[in-house]
Amino acid sequence: MRIWSLLLLATPLLAETTWKDVQPILERRCVQCHQKGEVAPMAFTSYPETRPFAKAIRQAVARQSMPPWHAAPGSLAFRNDRSLSAAEVATLTAWVEAGAPQGPAVKSMAPAAGPSQWKLGQPDRVVQVPGFQVPASGQLAYSFLIVPLNLKEDTWVRAAEFRIDQRQVVHHINAFIRPPGSSYLAGFPTNEIFSPTVAQRGKRHAHERVFDRRQLILGYEPGYEPMPWLEDGAKLVPAGSDLIFEMHYNPGGTPAVDRSEFGLYFAPAAPKNRVVAIDTLRDLDFVIPPHANGFVSQAAMTLARPARLLSVQPHMHVRGKSMTVRAVYPDGRTETVLAVPRYDFNWQTTYVLAKPIDLPKGTRLESTAGFDNSPNNRFNPDPAAAVKWGDQTTDEMHIAFLELVIEATGDPEKLFSSLPALPRPTSPAAAPQD
Ligand code: HEC
Repeated sequence: MRIWSLLLLATPLLAETTWKDVQPILERRCVQCHQKGEVAPMAFTSYPETRPFAKAIRQAVARQSMPPWHAAPGSLAFRNDRSLSAAEVATLTAWVEAGAPQGPAVKSMAPAAGPSQWKLGQPDRVVQVPGFQVPASGQLAYSFLIVPLNLKEDTWVRAAEFRIDQRQVVHHINAFIRPPGSSYLAGFPTNEIFSPTVAQRGKRHAHERVFDRRQLILGYEPGYEPMPWLEDGAKLVPAGSDLIFEMHYNPGGTPAVDRSEFGLYFAPAAPKNRVVAIDTLRDLDFVIPPHANGFVSQAAMTLARPARLLSVQPHMHVRGKSMTVRAVYPDGRTETVLAVPRYDFNWQTTYVLAKPIDLPKGTRLESTAGFDNSPNNRFNPDPAAAVKWGDQTTDEMHIAFLELVIEATGDPEKLFSSLPALPRPTSPAAAPQD
């Protein structure tokens, strides 16, 4: 016994943890954000840059505030899991406790594809925001840009990527496609930026099919990483579609001009599977009472045909506290897909399943969202307000965005046939996020 404990005590002394042990972990887990021009305020790409933050690093990994990742144990496994293994935490901690020594020289980190490069390679098609003027302060309405793609044939897109220009002010950009004949922002000019009213954004033809109106290709929010959807799956862009950017900017203290770009990667041939994004797992009707902590909103939908679930993105605003998404199978079995017990609105992460799960027809998808409207929530702009659905940060939302996979020839509309009609906006404040 005694010999073993002596050995354990002696282990750290046998091999001091130095920069050579730490660099690979930072390269794997941190520098996609912690490099010049990326979202994090400091770079960890070399020893001299990292050394001053050693203690902060130990603290952040112990608190699990870094890397930002909010799925709790009990969730399924995710392809883009950013969390550290116990061994990685132990190495970082041992290094800081040893005084963050440099030790033997190592080959410096291979420069990652920086923010100025396309991470997935040169796209087949690039669309650019033509210089959006962001003032130093104030609250900006959602802005839109419609760009005709002039595609003569139905085109499969195997991946898409945002190259964000002004990271400090871009809150999010969603790229939709609008098939010909759609009611979505019909009549608005192309190739110029405009801000329609909520009512104008919500306008739709009677009985218009969901996917005939618009389809989400990709959303950008801080922390986003480009990734092809599937080896054998792609999104479909019908011939004659327009691309529409929905953009939300948050002024950052100094004026900025944003020229973010969006790239599309075409699939060489029709894929086996089609990936579709839906926003119908949501609750539009809640009212969070003033000062309430622990208010719960529920949403559910039942699949009218089989599909595979590829990803989940919880979406709430600053009063959002937790979200859990479950699948209740026709045989009664319940599976927790994603549990986010401590939601952080700064990290609108898309959780991409390591193995997409099969959802038979009749599977009920449920989402439970918790909100904190009390003064203890330090992000709460007004605990005295009764809070409803709305697109400003002072309003709330409860959506679990999903990406589903169906066969390439399948009709995504059939996913919905057992759903009640899509809720129609009753008042501007209750309009869905479109
Ligand atoms: C997805 C992007 C991302 C990744 C990955 C990431 N960080 Fe960060 N990090 C940020 C951003 C943004 C900030 C500044 C805002 C904040 O503190 O949340 C930050 C701040 C920090 C801070 C400052 C203090 C603190 O706790 O907020 C430390 C220390 C830190 N990161 C360490 C790390 C380490 C170590 C890793 C890898 C093991 C890592 N980060 C991975 C984005 C990231």
